[in-house]
Amino acid sequence: MIKIIDCGSQYTQNIARRVRELGVFTEIIPFHTEPKKINKKDLEGIIISGGQFSVYDKGSPLYSEKILNFGVPILGICYGQQSIAHLLGGKVEPTQNREYGETKIEIQKESPLFRNIPNKKLRVWMSHGDIVKELPRGFELTAISQNGHVASMQKSNIYAVQFHPEVDHTEYGRKILENFIEICEAERNWDPNKDYDRIIEETREKLRGKIGVGGISGGVDSSTASVLVSRVTGKNYHPIFVDNGLLRLNETEEVRSSLNPLGLNTHYVDASERFLSRLKGIIDPDQKRKIIGHEFIAVFEEVARKIQKASYLVQGTLYPDVIESVPLYGISSKIKRHHNVGGLPEKMGLEVIEPFRYMFKDEIRIIAEEKLGMPKEIVWRHPFPGPGLAIRIVGSDVTLDKLKILRQADYIFIEELKRRRLYYKISQAFAGLSNSKSVGVMGDEGTYEAEIRLRAVTTNDFMTSNLYHFSKKTEIAIANRIVNEVKGVNRVFYDWTQKPPGTIEWE
Ligand code: XMP
Repeated sequence: MIKIIDCGSQYTQNIARRVRELGVFTEIIPFHTEPKKINKKDLEGIIISGGQFSVYDKGSPLYSEKILNFGVPILGICYGQQSIAHLLGGKVEPTQNREYGETKIEIQKESPLFRNIPNKKLRVWMSHGDIVKELPRGFELTAISQNGHVASMQKSNIYAVQFHPEVDHTEYGRKILENFIEICEAERNWDPNKDYDRIIEETREKLRGKIGVGGISGGVDSSTASVLVSRVTGKNYHPIFVDNGLLRLNETEEVRSSLNPLGLNTHYVDASERFLSRLKGIIDPDQKRKIIGHEFIAVFEEVARKIQKASYLVQGTLYPDVIESVPLYGISSKIKRHHNVGGLPEKMGLEVIEPFRYMFKDEIRIIAEEKLGMPKEIVWRHPFPGPGLAIRIVGSDVTLDKLKILRQADYIFIEELKRRRLYYKISQAFAGLSNSKSVGVMGDEGTYEAEIRLRAVTTNDFMTSNLYHFSKKTEIAIANRIVNEVKGVNRVFYDWTQKPPGTIEWE
């Protein structure tokens, strides 16, 4: 197993997924974990992640130097390289020639890290303002950037690179990670399908003879968790689908028809009125989220009380939810506030069952398809946030009129994507309703109506995303349909912002 010391980079999860794709199990641990609390059983290597800090910043994520002396091979990436240099007596300083995005590097010296890479010059992806100015004692320079900065250094089993090998834009990035795995002599036996058998056994042991409930939204995480638990416990398990009044057009019916063939014991609860009345007049997205979260708890509690002797609650928590719920520093809460890991079940007094706590979404999809035979429309359904359309009504309160406009616009957008066979090429697409109105003309009359925003992104992990590029013809056709068919809308905008710096949702 390779452990990744998370120093707060948004790419830490990419490193973990990349290494797993190469067959080695990875675990992410926060930088402030005490060395003696790090389990060294099965530990084959350590990767130190990047991060947005300078090693000299107050409160920068500096891990214990003892970690570098564990005796297993180490790979520092970006801030990882700088922090290794800093901890081992080298010098790090800011530079005028900051390197962001595509940069060229030249390999200066043979290294096991660059084994079987045919070129000396590589295009890599960088993102840093600080550089290693002086190598720590005993280190040698193995690659240099086009601006003359240290691009890679090493000493015995400690390797470091200034660029990001885990990012697709880095030439031979995958090969560099594979070389590191070879340096670690790590066992390449990780396979989500094999792990499935272990999860089934563990869940069976834990839940034998017990009754429980779980949330199900029709999305891949919660549906797969529910199918797995119901395979083990049968009718003793009660998934609960809550209509919170913030769902998309026809969503309950569509979810019902895709879940029906799976033979689950699903309870459908219409709680739309109570959610909408609590949300009246609320504009702030965090407050919307809080109210919705509380109301979900209340509904689950009521249903669980009716199902007598319920003792556990199944959640489709994935590894990113777990990692993102561990506060690294104050700022992390900004990106990570939407996850309800922990809060909900504690209050309910139920044991939490999270079968996929250590898995990524792409791994769940493999299990859902290959092991559980679940249908494509669930496995590859675009994610939809728990607070639903409430956070897609941006900058204003939720009303039935706004919901109606947004539902219709979103439905047309998604219908067009499906009709044009684009839906499964996109990771997430949706419409939002902005809080501004603008003028237009329709027929002979002037209008003053709402604006619809559209977003379509491609991503593997939803931590970063690229834009989906439609043809002009498709964009115009979709915009025309929305303006013509949705009463109250006179403009359609497409969001051209990547994540980062944007997020996927607007809120
Ligand atoms: P952002 O907007 O943070 O979204 O870039 C990343 C992914 O998370 C989804 N999302 C949520 N999912 N509950 C969820 O289950 C939530 O409260 C929530 N908020 C955002 C978002 O749709 C995207 O896929």
